[in-house]
Amino acid sequence: MFEQKPAPIIGRLVVIGVGLIGASLASALKKRSACTSVIGVARRQATIDEAIKAGIIDAGALGLKDVAQELVKGDVVFIAVPTLSVESVLSECKEYLHPDVTITDGASVKGSVIAAAKQVYGEVPPQLIPGHPIAGSEKSGVGAANPGLYEDHRIILTPLQNAGASHLNLVDSMWKAVGGEVIHMPVDVHDDVLAMTSHLPHAIAFSLVDTLAHDADNENIFKYAAGGFRDFTRIASSDPVMWHDIMRANQSSVLNAIDLFAANLARLRSAVAEDDSEYLLGVFTRAKEARDQFTRLLTKQAFVPKMQSSNIEYIMQPGGQVKGSIRVPGDKSISHRSIMLGSLAEGVTEVEGFLEGEDALATLQAFRDMGVVIEGPVNGRVKIHGVGLHGLKKPAGPLYVGNSGTSMRLLAGILSGQPFDSVLTGDESLSKRPMNRVVNPLKAMGAQISAEGEKGLPPVVIKGGAPLKAMDYTLPMASAQVKSCVLLAGLYAAGETKVTEPAPTRDHTERMLRGFGYQVLSEGAQASLSSGGALKATKIDVPADISSSAFFLVAASITPESDLTLTHVGMNPTRVGVVNILKQMGADIAVSNERTVGGEPVADLRVRYAPLKGIDIPEDQVPLAIDEFPVLFVAAACAQGQTVLRGAEELRVKESDRIQVMADGLAILGVNATPTEDGIIIQGGNIGGGVVESHGDHRIAMAFAVASLRASGSIRILNCANVATSFPNFAELANSVGMQLSVTE
Ligand code: S3P
Repeated sequence: MFEQKPAPIIGRLVVIGVGLIGASLASALKKRSACTSVIGVARRQATIDEAIKAGIIDAGALGLKDVAQELVKGDVVFIAVPTLSVESVLSECKEYLHPDVTITDGASVKGSVIAAAKQVYGEVPPQLIPGHPIAGSEKSGVGAANPGLYEDHRIILTPLQNAGASHLNLVDSMWKAVGGEVIHMPVDVHDDVLAMTSHLPHAIAFSLVDTLAHDADNENIFKYAAGGFRDFTRIASSDPVMWHDIMRANQSSVLNAIDLFAANLARLRSAVAEDDSEYLLGVFTRAKEARDQFTRLLTKQAFVPKMQSSNIEYIMQPGGQVKGSIRVPGDKSISHRSIMLGSLAEGVTEVEGFLEGEDALATLQAFRDMGVVIEGPVNGRVKIHGVGLHGLKKPAGPLYVGNSGTSMRLLAGILSGQPFDSVLTGDESLSKRPMNRVVNPLKAMGAQISAEGEKGLPPVVIKGGAPLKAMDYTLPMASAQVKSCVLLAGLYAAGETKVTEPAPTRDHTERMLRGFGYQVLSEGAQASLSSGGALKATKIDVPADISSSAFFLVAASITPESDLTLTHVGMNPTRVGVVNILKQMGADIAVSNERTVGGEPVADLRVRYAPLKGIDIPEDQVPLAIDEFPVLFVAAACAQGQTVLRGAEELRVKESDRIQVMADGLAILGVNATPTEDGIIIQGGNIGGGVVESHGDHRIAMAFAVASLRASGSIRILNCANVATSFPNFAELANSVGMQLSVTE
């Protein structure tokens, strides 16, 4: 059998300028049989001979004139000469080319190509589709041709309104055929963006090397210049004529870029001169974060601060073991608060065990956006250079907190006390969650704050400078977020702010404020504080998150022969509902090595399999286990008899409606689960396999992963990317104890 060759995408390709860009396109199209033949047009016969010998072109000519007559519709002329030579090539095109023949180019500046076309043709002809493959290299010439150069690279096309549709389609398909990702963009946007991202770095690299080369001691300098110099100046080996042309062709955008950079460099210079360590650290930490984010983007890893939900799924094989000793990542609630209070404190706060999950990172980014210098996180260590209660700066744009309700609600309290305006935004899930629970009390304190519609949905918009007055607030629901929000606003409110809660909720804010030397009184259900004090930087050791531990507490409890130790788990009495409930169901959980770390109780938990029985969950445990119910429902599904939960309507306004979503998923797995208005009734029994939807809710995804330990078939869990909000290494830890989880994208 002969191998069937794909039909060519274009007819003939005429490459004008057989250098890196032109020769690479030629060889890429030829390699894929995506054109019928390639003709190279070059100024020197030697270039043509070399390109023919290398199999890059089939034939050559010293001018377009010699080949233009043969060209017809479907053929493409690709202009790949230095930017300022484009005009003379276009003159030849006008003279010799039929309007049916498609013309495109690869110049790095598009405004000058448009101007050249207007100069030559009077107006830009429909056959011309200006383009720019973002895929250069410091290498040049035919010898540098690389058929893979455009794979997974962006190709920007800047067609004008009158561009011919067939020409545009042809150029689109040609670039896609060689692996490029084609995007369309207005000409001026292209030139501004490229001035910043490409032309400026080249100007700096050329200038830096030239500066050093002129230095009297340059031999020595180059001899000792190692990695940093080499990496930074690689692009100064690029083609000088090409870059000379680019700087001139994109003059105004390049000038703007150089001015902006020069001003920032001058500011950096004065920071060095004045030994302004804060400023230097600020620039370097922000830049590192931005560069790391860029690296993740380039390597197509999960993109942390923007929280794009890529389509991650978990495939769980049924059964497995739960054995060993693990430490789950740091407590999410405490991690959030460490950044907030560390930023508002005076001095440098050092945090260990910080949760490097997307939610806590969103809080961290928000404070960086308000001018706080934060080093790290590196292996859970963060250093926060506090700015004091009144040192935050107005952020340049809205503060985006992704999926994180805690960030939005607690920040709302802090921001209400600031002199500047601010806006809080979130992802799709957070944009559906009620913010009136914080907007209403803050308004009552005098804040100028609003959210959208009757439910008060994000974005939350705050007008700065409104004087706050203290108040005595009774929470309508048991919510630590609302309590914390009001207390944090109280730091800025005249008088004594008091919050009374209907049931105990997590008290990390109160404890941590005290850790920062701020007086907070707790009397029964009431917590209170007065403004006028200051927070003093401290050290924080974040315990392992009991909410993340909960998945493994249940996993070990439901799996025969399991024996698992969870170390350094936060055992704050306002968080231990999951342990209490599981123990009441018959779980075998031994608590040891109890100690206090930085004001928070911590212990090791050893869990072994035990047959569970269904119970009526005591309502007073609900706020103490509020985040753990998805996985507790899985425990209930494995228990003998019926489990009933009441008084948990708050579950309906979490990252998803956790009552409905869990009931739906459990039903798919064959579990008898009946949702009620404020809870659920679950009959223990067998768990089957199936496909369940997590609705982008991290805790739902992990709960169903745990269910697989007792399932009779495999479970596929959809939409799991948000597990990274609270438990970035869940899959690895789950597999390390013997669960059988594979992640697919
Ligand atoms: C949290 C409080 C709880 C909890 C959330 C974190 C906190 O929310 O569900 O995951 O850190 O204060 P509510 O206060 O809305 O119950």
